[in-house]
Amino acid sequence: MSRVLVTGGTGYIGSHTVVCLMQQGYDVTIVDNLSNSDLKVLDGISGIVGRRPDFVQADCLDGSALDAVFDSFPDICAVIHFAASKAVGESVEKPLMYYRNNIGSLLNLLESMRSHKVNRLVFSSSCTVYGQPDKAHLPVDESAPIQKALSPYGNTKQINEDIIQDTAHAAPELNAIILRYFNPIGAHQSALIGELPNGVPNNLLPFVTQTAAGLRPKLRVFGDDYNTPDGSCIRDYIYVMDLAQAHVKAVQRLEDGGREEQVEIFNLGTGRGLSVLEIVKTFMEVTGAEVPYEITGRREGDIEQVWANPEKANRVLGWKADTPVGEVLLSAWNWEKHLRNIK
Ligand code: UFG
Repeated sequence: MSRVLVTGGTGYIGSHTVVCLMQQGYDVTIVDNLSNSDLKVLDGISGIVGRRPDFVQADCLDGSALDAVFDSFPDICAVIHFAASKAVGESVEKPLMYYRNNIGSLLNLLESMRSHKVNRLVFSSSCTVYGQPDKAHLPVDESAPIQKALSPYGNTKQINEDIIQDTAHAAPELNAIILRYFNPIGAHQSALIGELPNGVPNNLLPFVTQTAAGLRPKLRVFGDDYNTPDGSCIRDYIYVMDLAQAHVKAVQRLEDGGREEQVEIFNLGTGRGLSVLEIVKTFMEVTGAEVPYEITGRREGDIEQVWANPEKANRVLGWKADTPVGEVLLSAWNWEKHLRNIK
């Protein structure tokens, strides 16, 4: 049986990925410092899977703690690295914290992997590396130019990708898959795990579900004067469980060998762009819940429109994000209801 080390495994995408890995028979060790997640997530995971992942509370900035994890679990065959700070706005306020956390963690992890001869890495990156692609590059495939990052957070993803490329270049036995996510939304169908935003949500979906639950008086739609059909921004919203399955495919691909490049990059999206207003309206339709909203000014730094060309992931990973968006929005609502005890 293979074991996968999942850093940040109690977080949003991490926890859903742990479920998928365990359901496919992998053993999992989670390393998480719980800075933006809760131990109760482990109960949710075991409620779904029927067994508990191993858990080590540690910070990836602590290199000796990471070494100790590899020493304790010599059967680790691959690592999925999620652990990172991820709030764009916060990264603008606290750039040094973001550079230290996100870059220091990867450096320690790669050093521990090297010294323990673990040579398979899946890295959690973002479509933020593409910035606002020109019209000619929409939908965005992996060959679209990388643009100067709009935030320290985005820059840490670009730098981390470079660190992985350079490390792999110097170590031919190291194989990596970089996954560039578009906008993950929704929760596991059981409503036992989901997204747990810290304080006022920055992201659209948690704000929508909290408004529907009455926690927030109104959603602000940031701009309806963009050059899009209804004037609001367009994103590629991908179901978090579809995204999680892609990680299992990536680990399997690293295990199977026979790869095209030592470091492979995949865009993970649905291939379909939806506007903010389409999301809000579809949410109200499928859930029957009211989401009061108002159109306000644009949010600084927002990209007008971006969606994925996921053809490479479809073809090479044998993976597709095909859960209907209505179902995904309903899963997000069921999770919010579970959190707030709404019947
Ligand atoms: N939006 C609103 N109101 C809100 C929140 C969001 O109208 O209260 C709009 C935004 O303006 C944007 C869309 O909803 O048009 C999606 O916004 P999110 O904040 O959910 O997502 P972003 O696309 O801005 O950011 C996401 C990730 C980042 C990542 C980025 C890459 O959260 O980590 O994609 O493009 F860097």
